[in-house]
Amino acid sequence: MHAALGTGLGLLLPDAARAQGADAANARPQDGDRLVYADGDRKGAVIKLDDLKVGGPPVTAMPQDAATGTVRDGSRLNQILLVRLDPSRLQVDTQARAVQGVVAYSAVCTHAGCDGFAWTADKQTYKCPCHDSEFDPADAAKIIGGPATRRLPALPLKSAEGQLLVAGTFTSRVGVISN
Ligand code: FES
Repeated sequence: MHAALGTGLGLLLPDAARAQGADAANARPQDGDRLVYADGDRKGAVIKLDDLKVGGPPVTAMPQDAATGTVRDGSRLNQILLVRLDPSRLQVDTQARAVQGVVAYSAVCTHAGCDGFAWTADKQTYKCPCHDSEFDPADAAKIIGGPATRRLPALPLKSAEGQLLVAGTFTSRVGVISN
């Protein structure tokens, strides 16, 4: 009886662990998560505050569970846009979520869900490649052009030992809200 139970658990535990890993990878960014590069040569490497230069260019990040090392890349809705701006340009509520001018937003457009935003260096804005919605990261991703009607959700940040960390959850639901 015991032997049979033991065998059953032995078969179940890897599945349970796999399910837990999948849950962690799909979960939205959480307080204490690290941020890692989402793509490029440094994909998976932890992003440090000093990696980001004032005025851009932005970096696309994914959250990483600091306890287990699981990168939360199970959902494209977890992509995060990071950019470092002159702190004096940040509006009050944006300043409260920033670390030394670094601000974070969802990288998925609220209009129809595209990603791959372009950075407009002269205006310091994000521009969606699909229908040209434009967002101001210095002012809580205020919409300054295009068809989007909802700002990009913001993600509060903090830092420790030179690393950027997530300080809370997105300020609103990421992606497209249909009703
Ligand atoms: S999906 Fe971004 S403007 Fe339409």
